[in-house]
Amino acid sequence: CDGRKLTELRDINCEVDLFKPLHGSALFQRGQTQVLCNVAFDSLDSVFRADPISVITGGLKEKNFMLHYEFPPYATNETGRSGPVGRREIGHGALAEKALRPLIPSDFPFTIRLTSEVLESNGSSSMATVCGGSLALMDSGVPLSSQAAGVAVGLMSQPDPKNSYELQDYRILTDIS
Ligand SMILES: *[C@@H]1O[C@H](CO)[C@@H](O)[C@H](O)[C@H]1NC(C)=O
Ligand SMILES: *[C@@H]1O[C@H](CO)[C@@H](O)[C@H](O)[C@H]1NC(C)=O
Repeated sequence: CDGRKLTELRDINCEVDLFKPLHGSALFQRGQTQVLCNVAFDSLDSVFRADPISVITGGLKEKNFMLHYEFPPYATNETGRSGPVGRREIGHGALAEKALRPLIPSDFPFTIRLTSEVLESNGSSSMATVCGGSLALMDSGVPLSSQAAGVAVGLMSQPDPKNSYELQDYRILTDIS
């Protein structure tokens, strides 16, 4: 809808080391989507401990890497109240956390809190969080096993009228907005 070719991404701009008092910070922008990621370390005593029910259902007892994702109303040019964290924010945060967790050394001697605040959004802010989060973690000195980047993709297809499971013709859209 913005006239890009199938192989074109929106313009990307990255900045790191924005705030000296923080352990790490990064600003990642792709088109009209901009996220600010900050990293803070604490001792291993501050790990997140799940309650017994969550341990039974989720299997995770403790985690020393937490990603908090915020999507305030102004990110989409709306006024409104910032209330309790919604399902959408929890889901997007979990998605980005899942992308970054395997890159963090398991013996890292601190608890890491990464916050991602979406400053403006027109598509793919969870994937922008993966990019900005990776930059902020590297800025903070966490020895990641690799950099990470994420991009939203979509599929447009024309199903076969006789067999709806067979795709006659399809295009993959990269960096959807
Ligand atoms: C979001 O991006 C689309 C595609 O470029 C554009 O048409 C639309 O106006 C943008 N939305 C805002 C709020 O700028
Ligand atoms: C945001 O909303 C204001 C007030 O309605 C409008 O003037 C402005 O153009 C909007 N900005 C974008 C990027 O849509």
